[in-house]
Formats: sequence, structure tokens, C-alpha cells
Amino acid sequence: MPGTLPHNREELSAEILRLKRERNAVILAHNYQVPEVQDIADYVGDSLGLSRTAAKTPADLIVFCGVHFMAETASIISPQKTVLLPDLGAGCSLAATIDADKLRAWKQEHPKAVVVSYVNTTAEVKAESDYACTSGNAVKIVNSIPRDREILFLPDMFLGAYVMEKTGRKMEVWPGECHVHAGITPDVVNQKIKENPDSEFLVHPECGCVTQFLYFSEKGDFNLPLVEIQSTEGMVRHAKQSKSDKFLVATETGILHRMKKENPDKTFLPVKEDAICEYMKTITLEKVYRSLRDMVYEVRVPTQVADKARLSIQRMLEIT
Ligand code: 13P
Ligand code: SF4
Repeated sequence: MPGTLPHNREELSAEILRLKRERNAVILAHNYQVPEVQDIADYVGDSLGLSRTAAKTPADLIVFCGVHFMAETASIISPQKTVLLPDLGAGCSLAATIDADKLRAWKQEHPKAVVVSYVNTTAEVKAESDYACTSGNAVKIVNSIPRDREILFLPDMFLGAYVMEKTGRKMEVWPGECHVHAGITPDVVNQKIKENPDSEFLVHPECGCVTQFLYFSEKGDFNLPLVEIQSTEGMVRHAKQSKSDKFLVATETGILHRMKKENPDKTFLPVKEDAICEYMKTITLEKVYRSLRDMVYEVRVPTQVADKARLSIQRMLEIT
């Protein structure tokens, strides 16, 4: 990394705060970011909360500590602002399962369908979509579409299965998955249930185990512990409100930092210790500092694509 770096974490944090003020910047961080990045951020949240915050911030500069599609979304919503991603290597295996050409071909097979795209997609894919959605609002978005309309839902098949179950609607679902969440399989979860029968379970709808939970809860299987299927922000909220004092958390492990910080008297355990998104973890405090110092790396979506993609995001924000 060119240029000298402050000597320790305190100095680094102080420099980040100084540069932030100087540049009228805001630091947004996803719930999966490393603890020291979450701690320096002005706002930490899920995809929906980050989009909303990016839309209303009075700052001129957004340093986005998350992955590329999230920074793109911020730039689409606020094209007059500069959006920086501290490491361009912060991609997403789920977003990579579909591109605009594949979506156009799929749409040709279903010319009358409404396209609902999870935010974990590129700007080009969003530009080909009618609605964006997040894990926090996917059910609401699908419920807002007239029931006689065919729906193409992409790109996560586990979230798609969850939404179909919750809305009672059949949809065409793209067979994509996130490598981190797909690895949280029923056998991994069943073992943890056996070891921790007194815990409440918090499950992200991208997980490979999510359909099992829906099936068992509908059957009324009382041997299962309490189960909540939520977006990352929904999980944080639920952990605070719940009377339980022990939770098993089925998602990327970065979220445990906030849960423990906000609920020091409760116990949080990961369902899978190595459920770690290497893309989210590429962002470090040093890179946040360099990003502010050198104004790197700007994420800007070409106007034509951004104008089309914005419609799908605005439709989502209007409904939720
Ligand atoms: P949330 O919107 O629930 O934070 O999920 C984002 C994500 O990338 C999950 O892997
Ligand atoms: Fe993408 Fe999965 Fe990482 Fe989320 S956890 S950013 S879906 S690769």
C-alpha cells in the first residue's frame, strides 16, 4: 500500500475520522464487515437499511464497506454523490450467478413475466428488472404484484423457495446460491440443534437449511427450538426483543459482533464457525483509511444503466 500508514489502530481511527469530516463523508458498513470497520462506521445494517441510508444522507461522499453490488446500488440511488468501495475485489458469488445476457434470454422465454431481482445482482441485471428486493422485504414485494402475473425471481433459489412458501405463490426461480449460506445445510443445523436444545435459532433466508425449517414449522414439530427466519437486520432486532438468552445464528459470522455488542448479557453462537464471506472480509481499517485519503475506488454506474436500474430500486423503496 503506497504512502505511510498511521502506526496503530487508534491513530488509524483518528485519521479516518479527520478525513471523514474534511471530505464530508459518511461510512456505511454491512453487518458482515470485520468488527473494527463496523465500529468506525456511521451506520451498520442490512442491504435494505444501507440503501435507505444512502438515499437520504446529506454527505457528499459515501465510503461503502460492503460488496460491489451494494456500492453500485448506493451510486444508482444517489448519482450526484461520489461512492467509494475500499477494495474492488469485494464481489459476491451469488450476484455472479446471473448477468444481463442470461436474464434477457430468460425473459424471452417468459415475455409476460414480472422480474423481481434480489439486490445481490449487478446494476445491469437490475436495469433488466421490474422490482429489486432484499431479504428484508422480498415477501412484501412479491405480495404487491397482482396474483395473476407470472414472476421471475432471481438469483437466490433458497430465498425464492422461502418467498414461495410465505406468499403461497408459484414463481420461476433462478438456480443461484451464495456459497456461504448454501453451506449451512440441514445436517450442520441438526447437529447444532442436538447440542443446543435450549437455544433460539436465527436463520437467514439464503441458507441451504431454510426450506427444512419452513417444512417442520408448518408440520408443527414441537421438538424444534424457536426459529426466526430474518434478514441480517431482522436478526439483530429480534435478538434484542426476544426473551431468550441464547441464540444460534445461521448466517455469516460477522453479524455476531453487533449482536454481542448490543446484548452483552446474551449468548450468541454461530451455527457454522467457518461461514465467512471472504468478499466482505477484504475490507480492512487500513483500506478504509486509504480509500478516504486517496479517494479510491470510485464506483459509478453508466447513466443509461443507472436510470433503468433506479426504477426497480425506487419501486422497492416505495413499497417498503
Ligand atoms: P441482508 O440484506 O440480510 O443483510 O443480506 C445481504 C447478504 O449479502 C446476505 O448474504
Ligand atoms: Fe454475496 Fe454470500 Fe457474501 Fe452475501 S455472504 S455478499 S450473498 S457471497
